Amino acid sequence: MPVNFILRLISVALLLTAPSGIASERDVRNSIALGALAFADNCGKCHQADGYGEEGLYPSLHNTALLADKDLLIKTVLSGRMGHVEKGDDGTERLMPSMDFLTNGEIAAIIAFISNSWGDDVLIVTPEEVQDAR
Ligand code: HEC
Repeated sequence: MPVNFILRLISVALLLTAPSGIASERDVRNSIALGALAFADNCGKCHQADGYGEEGLYPSLHNTALLADKDLLIKTVLSGRMGHVEKGDDGTERLMPSMDFLTNGEIAAIIAFISNSWGDDVLIVTPEEVQDAR
């Protein structure tokens, strides 16, 4: 048998036995693209399309420590920041609403998008991890 053929067989076998939880590069790219759209629809009006937010109103998401903290990001999107009330100069409360109406897949994709865009590394979150945090 030619070596090439044997190598092909081995790689097909590896593909078939690869654990399904591991995201392929294409899955990750798709997730980032979906996340970009979902971010624009749901987060951009406050945090702005460039993620810098608005001084004194909406925090910048350009924060590498924050964008490496999977659990905190999932929890922030699901629950918002209703506990942590800050009053602006004009006395208005700056709160982030719960965004738990988003699907698990959309939340995972948004986290992939923001971590890929403004963090050190893309954070892979599975829809199951979001579901478990609900
Ligand atoms: C209505 C405006 C609004 C929308 C929409 C919104 N946010 Fe926020 N977000 C805020 C505010 C205000 C805070 C700061 C709350 C506080 O004082 O802790 C915040 C905080 C955060 C934080 C924590 C920042 C930090 O430094 O701790 C993250 C992460 C975040 N938002 C992500 C998102 C994502 C992702 C979306 C879309 C799914 C989103 N936000 C939608 C207003 C918003």
